[in-house]
Amino acid sequence: MDERIVVRLVLNGEERSFRVAPGRRLLDLLREDAGLTGTKEGCGAGECGACTVLLDGRPVPSCLVLAASCDGAAVVTVEGLGGPAGSHPFQRALVASGGVQCGFCTPGLVMTGAAVLEAGVTAPADQARLLSGNLCRCTGYVKVFEALRRAGEDGDG
Ligand code: FES
Ligand code: FES
Repeated sequence: MDERIVVRLVLNGEERSFRVAPGRRLLDLLREDAGLTGTKEGCGAGECGACTVLLDGRPVPSCLVLAASCDGAAVVTVEGLGGPAGSHPFQRALVASGGVQCGFCTPGLVMTGAAVLEAGVTAPADQARLLSGNLCRCTGYVKVFEALRRAGEDGDG
């Protein structure tokens, strides 16, 4: 018997439908079923933030979210936020500030940072707290916070 569940999403602004096993993670739906490999898997345990996407506007670790629980939700991945043809202000600011090295953490960081900017959070301590779930093993965080400040100030990195 096919136990798969139909999940309808508005994925990066487009209505999509998937059939998933009950235990399938949102992360796997995105990377394997939808082919959106910008979302990364680091720890697979909700600790690194590499897999962060926006679920109904909120940043969530997609490795901890069951795809079946997302039926009817709006999901935005880094591909939906911006790319070379039209990047998000935080993406441009990260580049301008030198806040990207290997880039593995960057998609998740960009999603959380975009949500922080969207929420209008400007106090550095609050920004740091909200970004604390996104771990970067390369840069340290000074340039990342500088990028967030720049993007918040002028909206254009
Ligand atoms: S892969 Fe999801 S939090 Fe690390
Ligand atoms: S840039 Fe390498 S992990 Fe963050």
